[in-house]
Amino acid sequence: MEVIIMKTAEKAEKLAARIIADALIEKPNLTLGLATGATMENLYHKLADMNKKGKLDFSLYKTFNLDEYVGLPAKDRNSYRYYMNYHLFDRINIDKRNTHLENGMAEDLDFECAEYERLMEEAGGVDLQLLGIGLSGHIGFNEPTSSFSSRTRVVNLTPVTMAQNGPYFDPKKGEKMPNRALTMGVGTVLDAKKLLMLVTGERKANIIAAALEGPMTSMISGSAIQLHPDCTVIVDEAAGAKLKLKEYYRSAFKNDPKWAKYQKI
Ligand code: F6R
Repeated sequence: MEVIIMKTAEKAEKLAARIIADALIEKPNLTLGLATGATMENLYHKLADMNKKGKLDFSLYKTFNLDEYVGLPAKDRNSYRYYMNYHLFDRINIDKRNTHLENGMAEDLDFECAEYERLMEEAGGVDLQLLGIGLSGHIGFNEPTSSFSSRTRVVNLTPVTMAQNGPYFDPKKGEKMPNRALTMGVGTVLDAKKLLMLVTGERKANIIAAALEGPMTSMISGSAIQLHPDCTVIVDEAAGAKLKLKEYYRSAFKNDPKWAKYQKI
């Protein structure tokens, strides 16, 4: 695992966008695993800008998102399908038939999850999986006690996650946050060929330090990324504030030739 500390959230997002863009250019039929949430918004807008400027062509890529709420249709402004269309897919030249999210409206949710796993396998697996981390330590919606070998399934959301995402739902408009979701499992995430985690903001400082430098535990599903052989974590100074090995991470980023082209960000 490699940890990169950038000065600001803006620089962290820019670096993540550059790494993703370089991976997309290197493999024109790459399968990209995507995440939602506030952390990813600017990153997606940056990728969309590159597309607009003709630097990135999305026509051949397939995407698979980590998760979706149970019971929200695609047109609901709080669904993750809506988020992805709004922040990325409607801004780029991707074929929407190549974009996948679990269907939280499916009649048979277990079948939907099994089918999602099958589709990923059929696509040759995820090449690059983008991850955030929740305040509960979740990746995707893998809440504490999720098995490290879990697959795509229906999960119940914890009070911490209900409190984290609850404010997006406006009760005055009759909106209510679902307390269940479909999510790729921890095992599904670990099957991706590469992981790229982006974490910004002071409120994530404790959980990301525990996930990266603490013991691996199903109580923090984000700690499972320690098992992955090709994993890069980008944090801003605020999120990285509680990391113990900060100086080591800084010198590794500065001195490793593979990061040379990203030094100017
Ligand atoms: C969402 C997802 C979640 C988020 C996490 C952080 O698809 O995978 O694990 O990455 O909840 O969310 P934000 O970025 O809103 O803090």
